[in-house]
Amino acid sequence: MAFKKALSSLIIALPAVLGLVVSPRATCPDGVNSAKNAQCCSLFQVREDLLENLFDDGCGDAAHGALRLVFHDAIGIDPQAGGGGADGSIATFNATELTFHANTGIDDVLDTLGPFLQKWSHVMTPGDFIQFAGALSLSVCAGAPQVKFVMGRPAPKAASPPDLVPEPFDSVQKILARFGSVGFSPEEVVALLSSHSVAGADDVDPSIPGTPFDITPDVFDTQIFIDVQLRGTLFPGTGGNQGEVQSPVRGTMRLQSDHLLARDSATNCIWQSFANNQKKMQTEFGAAVFKLSLLGQNAAALTDCSDLIPAPPPFTGSPSFPPSLSHTDVEQACATAAFPNLPTQPGPPLVVPPIPQADDS
Ligand code: HEM
Ligand SMILES: *[C@@H]1O[C@H](CO)[C@@H](O)[C@H](O)[C@H]1NC(C)=O
Repeated sequence: MAFKKALSSLIIALPAVLGLVVSPRATCPDGVNSAKNAQCCSLFQVREDLLENLFDDGCGDAAHGALRLVFHDAIGIDPQAGGGGADGSIATFNATELTFHANTGIDDVLDTLGPFLQKWSHVMTPGDFIQFAGALSLSVCAGAPQVKFVMGRPAPKAASPPDLVPEPFDSVQKILARFGSVGFSPEEVVALLSSHSVAGADDVDPSIPGTPFDITPDVFDTQIFIDVQLRGTLFPGTGGNQGEVQSPVRGTMRLQSDHLLARDSATNCIWQSFANNQKKMQTEFGAAVFKLSLLGQNAAALTDCSDLIPAPPPFTGSPSFPPSLSHTDVEQACATAAFPNLPTQPGPPLVVPPIPQADDS
């Protein structure tokens, strides 16, 4: 009897117990959406606009540009020189920051994203907008992690000081020191360079805009870590550009900085560890890019709107060498473990086409 009573009261209490586990979601004023934090409700309309009108061609030029902007805004902070980090200053103070050599090409990105940033400036600050667009850009790239997003960054106060954005012709030592000064370990730096899996260059060799860094620039896969470890044999356009070294596949470009990070003893084993490990890349890139989004910000004052960021499509392939290339083309750099032996993709040597440009339409 007593047992039966205890059982029935447990059953009655069950919904309340479950309620503690499944946190309630606030229904938004639009009557359609719901969010964990009510302050995030205003972002659904922005998300819809960006997904339908900016990232409608998937993981292409606009998405790549939005991700690059995340970095170029956030890294504008230094313990000595100052700067506000992920504050939107690259947009608001573009008249200053676009004069920095390392921001070459960001003018194109702002031409594409700027109208959206302006349109929604009554809803979000420039700093929040840039990080939101970056998180959403990843949601259209198969294989990317579902990254966290928080809002509440104040408006930027001033332009970033110059010389804080790494250049592709910087040494490994200089790159690691720059990131180290704002709290990023070598492991986190290499993880962040997973971004170059969905990327290309317009301005390193201006004769060939949209030249991808790996053979799959519309997929967030580990190919960048594979391709960059292969022996370079050609320039996709003209040789002799600052920050560029030879690449192994026609139509792709290799940055000198990626090349050196894959070979320097400080980072080569880390680089290699991502080549065959999609899961590790997703986890560590996701954490590091979120950390980037908090630079210069008081994290405790920000509101978690991560539930606005959709899950990206899954990665369905598996790591492999480009057609006609194999383990014998690897420039082994890590001294303590061998580069993984991967299958070679079938077919004749690739000629990777350029990434169609957002402003071509
Ligand atoms: C050592 C640090 C880095 C260096 C030296 C570097 C350098 C470059 C260069 C030179 C370009 C080509 C720009 C052009 O000519 O159009 C580029 C593109 C890009 N970078 Fe990086 N980068 C670094 C780190 C990062 C990080 C941390 C991210 C993001 C988290 C990132 C995301 C991108 C993306 C997405 C593009 C492609 C942009 C597009 O296709 O329009 N990069 N990077
Ligand atoms: C670029 O800066 C100018 C002022 O220098 C400003 O009017 C414009 O809105 C800025 N662009 C963006 C995208 O914020």
